[in-house]
Amino acid sequence: MIRITQMIVAALLLMSGLAYLAVPPAGADSVAVPALSSLPPGYRDWRLISVAHEEGTLNDIRAILGNDIAIKAFRDGKLPFPDGAIIARLAWNYVSSEENNKAFGRPQSFIAGDPTNVQFMVKDSSKYASTGGWSFVQFNDGKRADPAGFSACFACHVPVKARDYVFNRYSP
Ligand code: HEC
Repeated sequence: MIRITQMIVAALLLMSGLAYLAVPPAGADSVAVPALSSLPPGYRDWRLISVAHEEGTLNDIRAILGNDIAIKAFRDGKLPFPDGAIIARLAWNYVSSEENNKAFGRPQSFIAGDPTNVQFMVKDSSKYASTGGWSFVQFNDGKRADPAGFSACFACHVPVKARDYVFNRYSP
């Protein structure tokens, strides 16, 4: 009888153990949980991929930077980007520079004004499989924006699916 009780207890323990293993870690399969909760350390020192300028309402000037994994993939022309790759898009207001214009002798200089926001694409092909393997995250004033606003990001990057959803090409 003791033996049977022991077997039942053992079976129950095993089942609860398996049940525990079957439960994924919190947020593991949810794209609603962005990859970054704070700005990644050192991102401002990452290397330059390219620059861009948006007109219209944004009217900003941008730098696109990559961590080491992203830079290597860009330079090797390797697609898709490997897990761990992070691409940052920094942006500033696009303003004319009186100081520079004086030096040039005519109005021709535009420079970076105040920063606007910083966006990231973080590659984890299994965790963010439903959005091309990328987690899209935006920070305003150093703080992560409301993730509810991140749902529009992926949809707009779909046209460049063939380049693993990344618009910018590496500028040598
Ligand atoms: C309306 C379309 C659109 C939306 C929405 C959008 N993007 Fe983009 N994104 C672009 C385009 C086009 C570029 C390339 C031009 C540029 O760099 O300005 C780009 C560039 C980027 C880059 C640089 C890497 C690359 O693909 O070239 C990052 C990082 C990025 N976006 C992140 C985000 C995040 C995060 C969101 C949501 C918060 C977002 N994007 C929403 C169109 C969009």
